[in-house]
Amino acid sequence: MKSLPNILIVDDNAENLTYFEIVLKPHKLRLIKAESGFEALEKIENTDLALAIIDVRMPGMSGYELAMKMNEEKSGEKVPIIFITANYVDEVQLFKGYGSGAVDFIFKPINNDILYYKVQVFLDLFNQKQTIVRESDLLKKYSQRLAGLNASLKTSREYLDKIINSVASPIFVKDDRYRFCLVNDALCKLLAVPAEDLLGKTGFEHFPDDQNDVFLAKDREVFFTGRENINEELLTDGAGKIRTIITSKTLYTDADGNKFLVGIINDITERNEMEKKFLASEKLAVMGRLVADVAHEINNPLAIIMGRTQLMLRRIDNKPTLFKAQLTTILESARRCKVILSGLLSYSRTIGKDEDVVNLHDMILEAVDNVNYQYEMNFIEIALRCNLPGNIEITGNKVALLSVFVNLIRNARQAMGEKGNLSILIEKGNNNQVKIEIRDTGIGISVDEMQKLFKPFISGWKEGEGTGLGLATSRGIIETHGGMMTAESEGEGTGAKFIILLPYKLKKKETGQLARKMED
Ligand SMILES: Nc1ncnc2c1ncn2[C@@H]1O[C@H](COP(=O)(O)OP(=O)(O)OP(=O)(O)O)[C@@H](O)[C@H]1O
Ligand SMILES: [Mg+2]
Repeated sequence: MKSLPNILIVDDNAENLTYFEIVLKPHKLRLIKAESGFEALEKIENTDLALAIIDVRMPGMSGYELAMKMNEEKSGEKVPIIFITANYVDEVQLFKGYGSGAVDFIFKPINNDILYYKVQVFLDLFNQKQTIVRESDLLKKYSQRLAGLNASLKTSREYLDKIINSVASPIFVKDDRYRFCLVNDALCKLLAVPAEDLLGKTGFEHFPDDQNDVFLAKDREVFFTGRENINEELLTDGAGKIRTIITSKTLYTDADGNKFLVGIINDITERNEMEKKFLASEKLAVMGRLVADVAHEINNPLAIIMGRTQLMLRRIDNKPTLFKAQLTTILESARRCKVILSGLLSYSRTIGKDEDVVNLHDMILEAVDNVNYQYEMNFIEIALRCNLPGNIEITGNKVALLSVFVNLIRNARQAMGEKGNLSILIEKGNNNQVKIEIRDTGIGISVDEMQKLFKPFISGWKEGEGTGLGLATSRGIIETHGGMMTAESEGEGTGAKFIILLPYKLKKKETGQLARKMED
């Protein structure tokens, strides 16, 4: 509760004191009365005065002396005083320096109204000062609290930013108009866009319309239902790659009732690709085993058919009869089946990655010889260049790798017919890999054919000239060796190029051997 302002009245005449009390009664104040300066000083010790009304002429201590003493110890503002005096102008001059506005005079005989209103003015002044003091105290307190709050807000915001930016998953917060109001580093990295380009915007200009439709639909759903939404969707990243993401969106309502959407993105592109590859290789392995079993089962009855047909052919008359011709057709067809079966068997066979040291140059010469044995290659120009440094070493399954080159050279021969150029280049590639390029001037590969080039059982050669397993098997073998196989062609009639990459190791330095030799 606010206490009443203290007013000191000092007059050596007790009647005057009573008079003052009566006149000032309507004011809300606490009167401290004293009949001498000494009594006054005693009574006002440790008391804050709003005003002192002091008779100038008093025995012992004059009104002025009292005023001096009252304010002696006060360093700050002086107590306002109304002196009661007879018409002594000189005395008025004396107190000029006391402080502007803090001293007033009432001349005897006293006019009640003047006294009443003068006191009123001082009281108003006092109340105003009190209010200002209170308010400035409050203001000081608030501003201190505000400064504290601001500092802790800044620290927690920085802390939050650090945490959010250290999360590997892209995170964002949107307002109820679907505009980003927070994005973390991972999201900016994914979209290859600085945060400034996203904040305050919907960001929809970064994505194709069909993706935006999904994002917006899910944003709306969360804002309208308030329920969490987890959705698998597509997102084109900053590099233009379409990624598969799972976005979880939740609604957040702040203390003022503003709604926000908090989104966390989980990029599952790589995981999906791995799973697909794994499934494909699993399927292929199952199919391989099945094919091997079936091929094996058919092999025996086929051998019987071929054996018996050959026997029958030998037994019948040498003359070309219709019967003999039919038997020959049966034998040819059976032989064809056998070729297909052996192709199937080699496709399905699991190729172990043996650690033989392989000389690619010699191996390719062997493959050329091998193909030459089956197909005439006299009119085909063959250029083989090997630019490998001596310190690298390739290891693998010799038989399997040879079959790859045989197949590629045979394909090139089939594509070129009897005439053409076959150039083979072996050189060091990037990333610790050896690059083998086999280029021919044959019929080339159309865009359509290119799509299914490495798929099994698709052959473009004339009926009976291929089973369509060579490239599928070859790619499998190369990949088992940790390498890659691709094909290029400018289209039909432009020849074709097959590129194989195989990892190499650096040969161990023979320093140990050298040291031993020197010791001997
Ligand atoms: N160098 C090439 N130029 C043009 N087309 C080619 C070339 N190599 C392969 N092809 C096309 O790719 C198809 C598949 O080749 P792949 O070696 O897998 O099977 P294939 O030669 O038909 O039969 P297989 O090798 O099993 O006896 C070929 O039939 C042919 O149409
Ligand atoms: Mg082939």
